[in-house]
Amino acid sequence: MNEEDKERFVITVKSNTKDLFAFTKMVPNRKKRIEKASNEPIKSDPINALARILHPERQYLIIDEIRDETKSAKTFKLVPDSELGTSELAYFRAGQYLSLKVKVNNVEITRPYSISSSPSDALEGFYNITIRKEEHGFLTNYIWDNWKVGTKVVSSGPEGFFYFEPLRDLKTIIGIAGGSGITPFRSLAKAIVEGTMDAKLTLLYGSSEEDDIIFYDEFKKLEEEHPDKLKVIHVLSCDVVSLEGCETGFITADIIEKYCDVKNCIFFICGPQIMYEFVIKQLVKFELPQKRIRREAFGEIKDIINYPDFPKEVAEKTFKIKAQIGNVTKEIPAMATESVLVALERANLAPPSKCRSGECGFCRSLLISGDIYISPISDWRKAADKKFNYFHPCYSYPISDMEIRVPRQL
Ligand code: FES
Repeated sequence: MNEEDKERFVITVKSNTKDLFAFTKMVPNRKKRIEKASNEPIKSDPINALARILHPERQYLIIDEIRDETKSAKTFKLVPDSELGTSELAYFRAGQYLSLKVKVNNVEITRPYSISSSPSDALEGFYNITIRKEEHGFLTNYIWDNWKVGTKVVSSGPEGFFYFEPLRDLKTIIGIAGGSGITPFRSLAKAIVEGTMDAKLTLLYGSSEEDDIIFYDEFKKLEEEHPDKLKVIHVLSCDVVSLEGCETGFITADIIEKYCDVKNCIFFICGPQIMYEFVIKQLVKFELPQKRIRREAFGEIKDIINYPDFPKEVAEKTFKIKAQIGNVTKEIPAMATESVLVALERANLAPPSKCRSGECGFCRSLLISGDIYISPISDWRKAADKKFNYFHPCYSYPISDMEIRVPRQL
């Protein structure tokens, strides 16, 4: 660093009074620098260039390898597609997700998938995502039938807030995972054992059957190599269990207390909604402050009709939505039990979306008229948005005819 840079960037702490005087020199110093500056126009913008690398709007990727994890889960290795303009991958924080954009029957849909590789793997040129096939999964069926080595995939940059923040979080993390909710914890565990994250992880991983456990061998090996940083406890809910050293049933307060110092840790939860609701009731018993419990949004609501306050009398109805999107206005049908976002996608209007969990605000739209149902459990909107009728179509359900204005996808 030369003398001029030192003057610009370095603040040396001397004492309260001296530091105070140092600030009095800021304006004269800035004037001096402006006088000395060149008249040549600035041709590059390094700050914006860096921001584009860290937060790209889109990443063009190619499937480089596919690995079977269980009979219904596969890990896809994604590398940059330089032909389409992605030469390096955006770095991320362990726990974040990619929103994949996939065209199925000419309809573009998006789905968020946690990155299951470690942040340092992104610097080596790849991401892993691990996908479990859902029984009637529209997209997962398509992926199973069509994705092969060489398939091109479009994704967002890394997104989401399910990550460890050393300034906010305690260093002892208790991960509670269910089913494919294990995927962000693989990334967290790897970052911890690689030393890029200064924390310890105790993982309580619930599965219905032994065969459903994803990454069993891999976690076992990591645990054996780093017993001071990682501990994994499997909790199986099936009737017959042969796995040694596991717990049976569900992740109850008793099991949590058996393995964790609950007052001195932070909980990270990722799994199906039903598991989340069960676990949250267990954690309530410990009377923890809200900030000690972080959860990954779990994607779209699959059974809105079972929500206690959902108006059941409209469940069978289909309403009309008049949707303005860019310069296009179209009237589309929408079932009360499907989200407004799904209705827009079905009509091929390509609405913007990323998390599909009501959290990121990327699909934020204006309700001009009509009524929607939004579950209070997942209403992440700002107070001003609630006041001025903005809503998140991914987590809102039509309960009357309505008119809306939707932003266009970038
Ligand atoms: S897609 Fe994130 S809030 Fe709707």
